[in-house]
Amino acid sequence: MPGNKCVLVTGACGFIGSNFVKMADQLVPGARIVCLDKLTYAGNLENLAGFEDGDNFRFVKGDICDDVLVNKLFGEEAIDTVIHFAAESHVDRSIDGPAEFVRTNIMGTFNLLEAARKSWLDGKRDPATCCFVHVSTDEVYGSLGDTGYFTETTPYDPRSPYSASKASSDHLVNAYFHTYGLPAIITNCSNNYGPYQFPEKLIPLVTLNALDGKDLPVYGDGMNVRDWLFVEDHCTAISECLKKGVNGEGYNIGGNNERTNIEIVEKICDLVDELAPPLPSGESRRSLITFVTDRPGHDKRYAIDATKTRTEIGWEPQMDFGPGMKLTVKWYLDNSGWVANVRDGSYKEYYEKMYGGR
Ligand code: NAD
Ligand code: TYD
Repeated sequence: MPGNKCVLVTGACGFIGSNFVKMADQLVPGARIVCLDKLTYAGNLENLAGFEDGDNFRFVKGDICDDVLVNKLFGEEAIDTVIHFAAESHVDRSIDGPAEFVRTNIMGTFNLLEAARKSWLDGKRDPATCCFVHVSTDEVYGSLGDTGYFTETTPYDPRSPYSASKASSDHLVNAYFHTYGLPAIITNCSNNYGPYQFPEKLIPLVTLNALDGKDLPVYGDGMNVRDWLFVEDHCTAISECLKKGVNGEGYNIGGNNERTNIEIVEKICDLVDELAPPLPSGESRRSLITFVTDRPGHDKRYAIDATKTRTEIGWEPQMDFGPGMKLTVKWYLDNSGWVANVRDGSYKEYYEKMYGGR
């Protein structure tokens, strides 16, 4: 188990990273949290409102591909743990513009691995007190048919530029473990849902469109399947893998909670009907469902077998899907200020206000 005295969290202002930092007191108690985030369109410093630079927290705006900055950070801070969330994360964007996915997800991960290698394997530090946790996705395994599950030994078969770039970064992490002995583990998780997700992803997008009475775009026939996990359960799994995982190993994380996309969209419609004022037409939000052209190369089904993580790490998800979805939909309905800032981009001004010019 690493020291956890100083944890570098990359991508800390995104969806999962910000949920992790909010839970850090319980996940990595007593640790100093150093956040590195480029604040791309998906990174919102407002997600970490209430955190201020001090003994236990520091925020640095910067690019994981900037080797000078990353090496400087490893020099300034006694980083013994990296939780690497930073990535371009949206499949549709990766189809429209794959270059940034190759840059951030592959080159950025390479750059962090190099900095960790120089800092941790210089002979002056005990590598057993360090760990690089690479937060990856089940999408590296490709697409399942109607049966079967992804295990840690399923061959990689990525099919989108996003999943190919994540798979590539996973291979680099494994290479650094095997070649240099860098202490590292990889977690491969299924689709997350919860508060603070950028509203380009299915669940927040459909929730907000349903609230506004706009079309709800369902790709293809809506029968693609994802295995949904509440974001806080993912964060707990990451910290448990950090504590109990074996370097060089991969751990699958999933909710054992497979749903078709149409089932998800219908559930959101019903929750918004229950929690928000009715549509002016008096119709159910289900009337807004619109089947649209399918995503190119759309993976049919993802389903994680998390037996290894459950048995070897002792992790179990805590949130059931029904209450988790209700909490999530209600969060987006209750946080109209956050939604407005994210939508019109004015959340960028928050950074200027907090850290202007730095
Ligand atoms: P996100 O898109 O919400 O957040 C990504 C964060 O990384 C943002 O804050 C962004 O500003 C930052 N970032 C992007 N490029 C950067 C760069 N070059 N340098 C520094 N920071 C940069 O993503 P998320 O949904 O929170 O996902 C986090 C990680 O978890 C990703 O690695 C993703 O592959 C993985 N993952 C996500 C899911 C999911 O369902 N969201 C599931 C499994 C794994
Ligand atoms: P998404 O949230 O983009 O996650 P991922 O592609 O990483 O699984 O999409 C989840 C599923 O929902 C996926 O099968 C694509 C589908 N989808 C829609 O049907 N309509 C949409 O508008 C979006 C964004 C996604």
